[in-house]
Amino acid sequence: MKKKSSLQEQVSVEFQNKFGTAPPLLVQAPGRVNLIGEHTDYNDGFVLPMAIDRGIWLALQPREDDQVAVHSLDFGETAVFHLNNLQQTQSGWAEYPKGVAWALQENGYALRGWEGVLAGNVPKGAGLSSSAALELATARAFQQLSGFSWDAVQMAKLSQLAENKWVGMNCGIMDQMISAAGEAGHALLIDCRSLETQLVPLPPAPDGSGTAVVILDTTTRRGLVDSAYNERRQQCEAAAAYFGVPTLRDVSISKFLAEADNLEPLTRRRAKHVITENLRTLNAAKAMQNADAPLLGQLMNESHISMRDDFEITNDELNVMAEAAQAQPCCFGARMTGGGFAGCAVALVHEEMVADFVTAVSQKYQQQTNLSPKIYVCQPSPGASVVSQPN
Ligand code: GLA
Repeated sequence: MKKKSSLQEQVSVEFQNKFGTAPPLLVQAPGRVNLIGEHTDYNDGFVLPMAIDRGIWLALQPREDDQVAVHSLDFGETAVFHLNNLQQTQSGWAEYPKGVAWALQENGYALRGWEGVLAGNVPKGAGLSSSAALELATARAFQQLSGFSWDAVQMAKLSQLAENKWVGMNCGIMDQMISAAGEAGHALLIDCRSLETQLVPLPPAPDGSGTAVVILDTTTRRGLVDSAYNERRQQCEAAAAYFGVPTLRDVSISKFLAEADNLEPLTRRRAKHVITENLRTLNAAKAMQNADAPLLGQLMNESHISMRDDFEITNDELNVMAEAAQAQPCCFGARMTGGGFAGCAVALVHEEMVADFVTAVSQKYQQQTNLSPKIYVCQPSPGASVVSQPN
């Protein structure tokens, strides 16, 4: 909560300095952590992310012309573009707001120009969706100023379109959906085919205390706009083609097991991850509804093994981190989270033992890797929202 108000303050103060007035409008959009359901979204499957209390805050005011001028406190740069003449430049943070403007206009939204200041506290490249936060904060800004109603699913789809077609990252829908539609206190089960969602609460510990979601950043980094993610997508498509169905969502576990021996080993492993991960994700949502933290934790542990051995998207640091977390008695389960290959793990921990957990896992990780981890205890938070607006 403290971090939230300080970023909010920073953008407000900077806005006041630049424009000589308090910002008439302030919006925010969160990053996310995925509890379970990895690389299932582009297979039309199920995911179970939650929005976190880290995100992008944007203070802004409308302009009378078609210009958007946005200053990033994180990059110390101002991006300027014209809604009537959007041009792709080299990649960089400004392509995200520009891409959202493009996607909205392509889909018939009449947009108004604006100027403002933004800042964020989602670590970049860590697999916590700093780009989705930027996209959805931009969508919120345009929605408020251009006078159309907020449709979370539609804004998520158009933000994904921006990322796929303008930025050139072939991501699925998970990150944009949760940044658009998250709710405080809950994770969101998303059916990535129908885009139906269901709120699920964090389960209590068996002794009735709370549980905490802890993000364990290995501090290893790998850009998502690289080949490994697309390669996994193609392998999943090849597996679906083998089964003669549109996506792996359509392959039941029994169909898979009946055919598994005929599949080429690599394709078999990739398909096995996605098909079993969909089942784990549905079971995890049920476990949460049944207040069963140990079962949720067990499914998280199984998910990690599947990503390590079958989908092969963990690195050594992620494996060390997940194992260090799992070894703590107060930890119900832990797994790599996000796109993979580097970045963060997520753990479900007994709330009253979080401080000891953080110390023990940091020490163990540091000893084994010589790297200092960054650890964030996070709260399930609301999706893209208006923080303050004119009365
Ligand atoms: C990235 C993508 C998502 C999803 C995850 C893996 O975060 O942006 O669409 O595919 O990887 O679950």
